Formats: sequence, structure tokens, C-alpha cells
Amino acid sequence: MNRLVEAKILPTFESWRGTSRSLLQQQIEPAQILWNDGSMPMLPIADQTAHEPFFDSRNSTSPGIPPVPREFITQAQTVSYHRDPVRWPLLYRILFRLTHNEKNLLQITTDDDVHQFYEMEKNVRRDLHKMHAFVRFRRVSENGQDRYIAFHRPDHLIMPAAAPWFAKRFANMHWTILTPDASATWDTEDLTLGPGAARSPVSEDDLEDLWRTYYASIFNPARVKVKAMKKEMAVRHWPTLPETELIPRLLRSARTRVHSMVESSAPAPGIGVSALEFMPRTTELPVLREAIHQCHGCELYCHATQPVFGRGPENAALMFVGEQPGDQEDLAGLPFVGPAGQLFDEALATVGIDRSACYVTNSVKHFRFEVRGKRRIHSKPSARHVAACKPWLQAEINIVKPRMVVVLGSTAAAAILGPTIRILRDRGQVFRDNPIAPWIMPTIHPSALLRMPDPDQRALAHEQFLADLRTAAGELFRRSP
Ligand code: URA
Ligand code: SF4
Repeated sequence: MNRLVEAKILPTFESWRGTSRSLLQQQIEPAQILWNDGSMPMLPIADQTAHEPFFDSRNSTSPGIPPVPREFITQAQTVSYHRDPVRWPLLYRILFRLTHNEKNLLQITTDDDVHQFYEMEKNVRRDLHKMHAFVRFRRVSENGQDRYIAFHRPDHLIMPAAAPWFAKRFANMHWTILTPDASATWDTEDLTLGPGAARSPVSEDDLEDLWRTYYASIFNPARVKVKAMKKEMAVRHWPTLPETELIPRLLRSARTRVHSMVESSAPAPGIGVSALEFMPRTTELPVLREAIHQCHGCELYCHATQPVFGRGPENAALMFVGEQPGDQEDLAGLPFVGPAGQLFDEALATVGIDRSACYVTNSVKHFRFEVRGKRRIHSKPSARHVAACKPWLQAEINIVKPRMVVVLGSTAAAAILGPTIRILRDRGQVFRDNPIAPWIMPTIHPSALLRMPDPDQRALAHEQFLADLRTAAGELFRRSP
């Protein structure tokens, strides 16, 4: 198979369209593309052989693309609101086929792709009708002004499509509609989209509470988040994002098999920019442990089973910080319980550190992974994820106040000591005078030990790991900072 290309898009039609145009111009076949709209990387659907895609240069007025039926664009936009992540590869497959000698494809309703396309379109339209019919506003008063609030749970991601209808229908009312994925607010002039409600209201009064919290966190101009929100809300400007220009350049620099296109510069509706906006002001670990279940600070919560908060006594002198939960940690809800955790436990036992006296946590609290067949394969969190999640780690450190923080691997090192740390160079060194903790020591991550193919190299690295742990323990138990 040809090299794979990761198409990172925002979960919007415009973003998909811009990226698809570029991909078509680059003659990238559907089966080569891993679509990633921030919710989950998509593997291409296997059945590409039935219509072996090819690029016919006579068919193209390159760099232009053969025209596609206007209805396709409208219908594809409707399909783009469907929740199923397969919509992106499906839409591209159809687009590719329409522009590669299957001009009349949309009339062949027995075709699997076409059938699925129309089914999805129908589901979204139905969902829109349902939303128009069922949303009921409740009147609340805010600074003497009437506001109308509603909560609705659509099946699909239809808020951007539904909101203009409400703006027209209830043009003279100030209203906000909350859904789990996104919210919309109309102030009789401007329509703005924002993140989803953190939870569902349990009663009418609760809806009001939920809206007030939401309102306070989002629309209070005293908070700096407004700028970020504006960025998030400017849905209609998304087509102008620079990703379409970047793609050809990235494709040319074909060094690796999988290319990363561009990190979305704006979060999708329903996803925040940092954990901060989901954190209660508290100094109680149990409160944070509970609250993190509502965190939408980045998109990783969408597919992980649960957040994995740190474990250990609140007064631990020694804290370990890993990267992110793995497959087993994600299922158990506990840090370092999988294969890396076992190695970690054994190493601690060898050097005489009691794990139950330590606080063990991660830089990123949700598992980031790619699906391969039935397996979930670890995928390293990006700097954006680490930054979004940092407030949780910072809060844990502030509460536990460890004397020594041992950072395991490069992600944790970057989170705590900054991006200039190199594990292989700096491991075993104790950093002082850092505001985070009196002593900080980076060392190799136990998973890295597990991955080393060469037994001699692995044995050596393991010895160094034990030596680093002894350094940490020695420092801690011999001296005070
Ligand atoms: N790797 C980590 O960094 N953390 C875990 O919790 C498990 C594996
Ligand atoms: Fe929030 Fe961190 Fe999970 Fe992102 S990874 S949703 S910031 S807890």
C-alpha cells in the first residue's frame, strides 16, 4: 500500500472540505488516509478493492477538481453533523469516486457507500426536526433581564446546524441552548457557539444552576477565556484556517510513513482549551478526584474509559509522575497497574521504597490511543494535551507538597521541568530551586525499559533506573531540603 497520510481536521464540514480539496489535488486515495477529527484517529475502511481508485489526469483540470453535483455538497454538509467518525472517510470516498469516473454514483442507491451516505443524511435531518420540535425554553432572570434557557440531548452533533433556525424563530429573545456536545447563545444580534454542558440537568432548577455556572464561566468578560472562546466560536471562519495550505507542504516532506497534518488551532465545540475551566477551587484531593470526571479540557476524554487521577497518601514525601494511563490503567481507573506498573512495583521493592507511601500520578489523565483492529495502541500525548491537563497535576502537587518528585520519561519531564530536559542526558540528576518541589529528579520511564529490544541494553538501563530510584530515596531519607 502507498504511504499513509493522517488528515487532521476540525470536526466541521468546512475543515473536511478544505482538507479534501488538497488531498484530491495531491491524488491521495481514500485508502491512504487516516482521518482524525480530534475525537479518534480513523483507520481507512478496508474494502477499497471493489472500486480500485485511480487518478485520471485527463479527468482533471488540475489544480482544479472536476465539479461535483451541488446536492452532494449540501447533503455532505448534513452528513458532516452525524456523530459517527466514519463520516469523514465515507465522504471522501464518495467525493473521490465522483471525481474519478463515477459521476453518477449518487444515483446508484444500492451502492454501499451511497446507501450509508443517505442513511446518515436522513438520521441527521430527523434529529434536526426533533430538536426544533422538542426544545422548550425556561425563563430566568439575569440582572433584571429575561433570558431563556433550554437543555437538549440530540443524537448527533447538530448544534451548528440547528442554532440558526432557533435564532430566526426566537429572534427577539436572549436564549442559550445547552447540549452535552455544544451550546449556542443568541443575544438578539449575535449567535455564538460554545462548549457543551459538563453534565445533564436533573431538574428545571438544576438546569438554571447549570446555566448559571456555564454563564459565569463562559460569558463573564472578566475572565481571559473570552478570547479563547471567541476563537472557538468563530465557526464560520474555520474554512480560512491555514491547514489547507500546510497539507501540500507536509505531503512533500514525506519522511515518515504517517504524516501529521496540523494540530487544530481551535478546539472543537464541546471541548475546552484547558482543564482549568473544569476545576473546582478546592484543596481537597477527593473533590478533585471526583471533579475530573467532568473534565473536557481537551478531546482525550471523548474516547477514554475514564480519567485516571493520582493515587497515594496526601502527605506523601515522594511523588512519581508518569506520562498517561495505559490500556489497563484506563480500564482500572488506577495509575501504573499494567505491565509498566508491574516493572515499576518490582523496581521500588528492589530498592526498598514502599509504594503505598508514595503518591503516583500522570502528566495527562486520560488515555490517548489509536485503534488497530481490536487493540488500543498507546499514542503519545501531545504538548497541547500535557498543557491542557497540567492544572490537575499542579493541583495534586500543591496539595501533596512532595519533597521529591521523580519524573518518569520525557512527557513528565517536559511537563514539570520544561522542554529542554533530555532523559538520557539528565536522568539521575536532582534539580533544586524549582518552585514545583524542593527536589526533582528525572529518570527513564518503565515503559521505555519494556520496549528496549536489546537484552544487554535493557539490563543496563534497568540498573540505571534502580540507581536513580536509590538516589531519590537516599536524598529523601538522608537529608531535608
Ligand atoms: N505509563 C504511564 O506513564 N502511566 C501509567 O499509569 C501507566 C503506564
Ligand atoms: Fe481533562 Fe486532562 Fe482528560 Fe484532557 S486529558 S480531558 S485535560 S483530564
